[in-house]
Amino acid sequence: MRIDVLTIFPEWFDGPLTTSLLGRAIEERTVEVGLHDLRDWTTDRHRSVDDAPYGGGAGMVMRADVWIDACEAVWNDLDAEVTRGRAAGGREPSERFVAGGRRPRTLLLTPRGRRLTQDLARELAAEERLVLLCGRYEGIDERVHELVATDEVSIGDYVLFGGELAAAAVIESVARLVPGVLGNQESPADESFTSGLLEYPQYTRPSEVRGHGVPPVLTSGDHGAVSRWRLEQAESLTSARRPDLLDGPGPG
Ligand code: 6GU
Repeated sequence: MRIDVLTIFPEWFDGPLTTSLLGRAIEERTVEVGLHDLRDWTTDRHRSVDDAPYGGGAGMVMRADVWIDACEAVWNDLDAEVTRGRAAGGREPSERFVAGGRRPRTLLLTPRGRRLTQDLARELAAEERLVLLCGRYEGIDERVHELVATDEVSIGDYVLFGGELAAAAVIESVARLVPGVLGNQESPADESFTSGLLEYPQYTRPSEVRGHGVPPVLTSGDHGAVSRWRLEQAESLTSARRPDLLDGPGPG
């Protein structure tokens, strides 16, 4: 799978993309991530990506022209030098991805988007290619929503400074579903949100910590009893903390 990210803070991703299992998947090229600096598509001396809102008011709005040029370049695998300030050239016009027309799955990260869930992560993991757009500041020109994004995605009902953290959440939740990213040891099949339940409590050595022991069933050697206990625990945790998960359509 290939994921391209457009952001004014490409360096923000250095940590998340080089650490742990995601870092390994990228190093092994099971998942390829391209980071692109939106400012490479600006045309003025100040490399500005935003301007004052039409109609007035506080704050700034990210410019549609810069986003469109950047996305057409990234969609068509072209450099900023070729496309800055104008539409993408390169491949045959009929093969070309264009704003307002045929384009790869392009997610604009915004609090007004569809909530990122395990179901959405599964849907996205089936794509060959994703493009993630990280907005900043108070807003983005509506024409980016209309002409560039194919999807709008939010990671929850709270407000962040920008889409970078949300994009990292998309990348991580999608990447771990790509075949070859997790070994069998770390199979995603059996955990929270896949079974539709929260995970049961886990314990490891030592058997006693500050006077707190381990449920005896786990050391009984009775595998049937262990399975039943785990299911019961998962069900009671889910009904206590996330009853909404029990009303849903169930395992997807
Ligand atoms: Cl995708 N962006 C911002 N700025 N805030 C958010 C979000 C996205 N998802 C939740 N809060």
